[in-house]
Amino acid sequence: MLMEGMAKFLARGAEAELYTDRFINRRVATKNRVIKRYRIKEIDVPLRRSRTRSEASLLHSAKEASVACPPVYEIDEFSLKLGFIDGVLLRDFIKHRKGKDISRVVREAGRGLARLHRLGVVHGDFTTANVMVDGRKVFFIDFGLGSFSKDAEEQAIDVLLMKKSLGSEKTYRSFLSGYGKYEKYGEVMRQLAEIEKRGRYVVRSWAGA
Ligand SMILES: Nc1ncnc2c1ncn2[C@@H]1O[C@H](COP(=O)(O)OP(=O)(O)O)[C@@H](O)[C@H]1O
Ligand SMILES: [Mg+2]
Repeated sequence: MLMEGMAKFLARGAEAELYTDRFINRRVATKNRVIKRYRIKEIDVPLRRSRTRSEASLLHSAKEASVACPPVYEIDEFSLKLGFIDGVLLRDFIKHRKGKDISRVVREAGRGLARLHRLGVVHGDFTTANVMVDGRKVFFIDFGLGSFSKDAEEQAIDVLLMKKSLGSEKTYRSFLSGYGKYEKYGEVMRQLAEIEKRGRYVVRSWAGA
């Protein structure tokens, strides 16, 4: 068993390093936003600070929208102590599981996104690498690029990123059968078609800021 204060390396994401640890007798994932030397310091420091704070705040709102996501136990300047999700990335789940399990989980992810959008939260980096599956439960993680917005175009970008990362048309349809619960579904899909027609778009997570 891991003792408090004995952190173990867990994963390295695009902007953070994750460690598991014990905290008040629970397993936690500490997400440290690490220095990015390709950014000048005057940008890097405030950016890491503001993403850390906004991620905590968006996770809180996601919970209020009944979207399963890790609890936030502690907020530091550049790091968050999050509840540990004992699961696999949706990306790996899709690789290794049967079609029926995949459609069920992906539909649940669609329902979750509908709840999130209804409450005015946009995820900002909604891919199969930022959704985790723990048994039957679907957790949303990594809200660092998210924002508070009810803008249909921003919502459409969440759907577009998931569409691209799901890969198959069939899986995407299962996802939409869940997301279709959203009242503004039609409007978001029109925006999505518009974005795809333009063929050129800038997605925050690709900008590499
Ligand atoms: N709460 C958590 N519980 C367990 N694993 C996590 C948790 N949060 C993140 N991870 C793992 O760490 C990886 C990177 O975390 P993420 O928040 O996506 O960081 P980044 O912003 O750098 O992409 C995830 O893909 C996942 O494997
Ligand atoms: Mg991530």
